[in-house]
Amino acid sequence: MPDQPHWLRGRVAVVTGASRGIGRATAEAMAQAGAHIVIAARGAGALTELAAAIRESGGTATPAPGDLSRADDVDRVFAIAEELGGATALVCAAAVLSKVPFIQTTLDTWEQTLATNLTGMFLCCRAAFQSMERAGGGRIVNLASLSGVYGTEKFPGLAAYNVSKYGVIGLTEAIAVEGREHGISALCISPGAVDTDMLRQANPALKPGLKPADVAQLIVTLLDQPMDCLSGANIPLFSNR
Ligand SMILES: NC(=O)c1ccc[n+]([C@@H]2O[C@H](COP(=O)([O-])OP(=O)(O)OC[C@H]3O[C@@H](n4cnc5c(N)ncnc54)[C@H](OP(=O)(O)O)[C@@H]3O)[C@@H](O)[C@H]2O)c1
Repeated sequence: MPDQPHWLRGRVAVVTGASRGIGRATAEAMAQAGAHIVIAARGAGALTELAAAIRESGGTATPAPGDLSRADDVDRVFAIAEELGGATALVCAAAVLSKVPFIQTTLDTWEQTLATNLTGMFLCCRAAFQSMERAGGGRIVNLASLSGVYGTEKFPGLAAYNVSKYGVIGLTEAIAVEGREHGISALCISPGAVDTDMLRQANPALKPGLKPADVAQLIVTLLDQPMDCLSGANIPLFSNR
């Protein structure tokens, strides 16, 4: 069978959490598949460096630094995407994790975690939805976690993080329901242990069964397929099985 052209080719795609880890690997893989990537995170230096690396490999990327827990910063990121033609693909990987016993979890930690991991994702998905609706369709992949999946083993100290990831799965289902009539699909990926800074912070004893590039490749493969029949799904990645 002849190679199918990438669905991503020539599209404007926003990737959040692109300064390192899974987001960075995903931005690189999507750029390789031919999308123009708007790369977002707080670390402006890392984004500039990544954009240069992508360009050196023949891809295109535009840095869009910002704190995605803030609505005005999210607006700025999507204004940049709009100038390039409008986002029709979105991958939300930005998240924070604070490991602290439940009883010592401060309101500030709770609010910051939910603001970044869930409200920030809501803001990004809503902005992308508007642009995808105008374009007649689009595809969204959100990073949840096995920490947000009922019945999986949970680790102590992650109450706020785990709750935020349960929320991500619910948010994605809601987007899938309302996106259907507009040709917009949304799904979640819920990895186990991936070799990143966040994993080392969450549980240094946990042996990562996945590398960021493994998750990135899966995301590109999913985005390159018609995602309608998977829309609303959460795909758990039990990497240690
Ligand atoms: N690693 C794992 O084992 C694992 C397992 C399951 C799920 N996940 C999920 O996969 C995603 C990526 O995780 P990772 O392991 O790659 O984490 P990571 O290496 O810690 O990267 C997190 C990214 O989020 C960005 N970020 C954090 N707060 C932000 C904010 N307020 N505004 C904008 N960007 C922000 C960070 O950039 P700046 O600091 O520059 O802002 C960074 O680029 C997350 O959603 C995580 O929950 C990871």
